[in-house]
Formats: sequence, structure tokens, C-alpha cells
Amino acid sequence: MKIFIDTADLDEIREIASWGIIDGVTTNPTLVAKSGRSFNEILEEIFKIVDGPISLEVISEKADDMVKEAKELISKVSEKYRKNIAIKIPMTSEGLKAVKNLSKEGIRTNVTLIFSANQALLAAKAGAAFVSPFIGRLDDIGQEGMQIVEEIVEIFCNYDIETEVIVASVRHPIHVIDAAKIGANIATLPPGVIRKMVKHSLTDIGIKQFLNDWKKVKK
Ligand code: E4P
Repeated sequence: MKIFIDTADLDEIREIASWGIIDGVTTNPTLVAKSGRSFNEILEEIFKIVDGPISLEVISEKADDMVKEAKELISKVSEKYRKNIAIKIPMTSEGLKAVKNLSKEGIRTNVTLIFSANQALLAAKAGAAFVSPFIGRLDDIGQEGMQIVEEIVEIFCNYDIETEVIVASVRHPIHVIDAAKIGANIATLPPGVIRKMVKHSLTDIGIKQFLNDWKKVKK
């Protein structure tokens, strides 16, 4: 399973990418706002750090405006990095129209705010390169989020649909294990979840013990 990092915080992207585990980046308007920097300031930097799909979200609501905004976003990124752009489009009928038009022009899209397998199927049919089911937000309202990932993966498998499934809105490491067991293509993870995946108390105890014992070795 590929791991994307779900943040617009450049320091976090830089640090965690240096561990050699990051295959791509997803951002959204909330994450950009949280970073405290302007979108333009962040944009090129992310592409310099990670050589993999980078999702950038449009905020327009009409298909034509989304397409226009997507092209403006692309024009802001240096030509050498453009191959890595994926335009994040919200799951609406206008969004589907935009996906169809962008994919016809060879522009990759990531359809976001997916909360059902039907939405994922429609997004794939419109030509999305990625679909992003939001698991944590479903769990938050008492619905089993991971169930829709299972359904989407099964449906895409049945019909050899090439659209990749990005498990999004991940809240904890168990979500990651579940996504991997189901066979999702990608999980996009907040830095906090990635850091939790690294840690195990027995690892810390083991290191401490080895270091202590090393002091006892005859010099
Ligand atoms: C994914 O692309 C989204 O940016 C993200 O996973 C949303 O997560 P949230 O529900 O924690 O805001």
C-alpha cells in the first residue's frame, strides 16, 4: 500500500519524507489554512520534496470554474513537476463534469469527499485517477467508514477499474492496518498517525536495555 502524507505543513512533509516512506501528498483548504502560509508559498516547495502525486484542491463549485481553476493551479507549478499534479475535485455532479473534461485533457483528478461506494463508482466512470473515501468522518457519525472502502475495492476489482482508492480522513493506526488488509491502493495519513505507527513501547524498552547492557561490555 502506498502512503501519502495528508498535510500542508512543509516541515512535517520534509521530515517524514526523509524517512523514505512517503509516496505522495494530499492537501485541502483546511490543511493549507492550518499551515499559516499562503498556498502559492507552499505549492512549489511540496513538489520539490516529494516526487509522487500531489493533490491540490479547487474551491470552485461550477464545472467550468473548476476546470479553469485547475489549469491556473497547474500553471503555478514548474513544468518539470506538473506530471505529479492531481487536481482534487469535490464529489458533486458539477465535479463529475469537471473530472470528465480534465481527464480528457490528460489532467489527473482526485475526487474528494466520497462517502459511499456509489459516489466512488461514478467518479471512476467520469475518469478520476483517484477517489478519496473519508473514513473518519463516517465513523464520527456512527457509520462504519471502512465498510465503504471494502465495497469500493471489491467493485473496482470486479470491473478492473484502474482508479486508485485513497483511504482518507484517517484518525489512527488501526485505520491504516484495516485499509492495508482490504487492499486499498493508498492511505493518506496525518503526520500524527504516521508518528504513532513508528512507535512501540517494547521497542523503546528494548533500546534502553541494549544501551544499558552495552555499558557492561568489557572495554
Ligand atoms: C484527504 O484528502 C483529506 O485531506 C483528509 O483526509 C480529510 O481528513 P479529515 O476528515 O480529518 O479532515
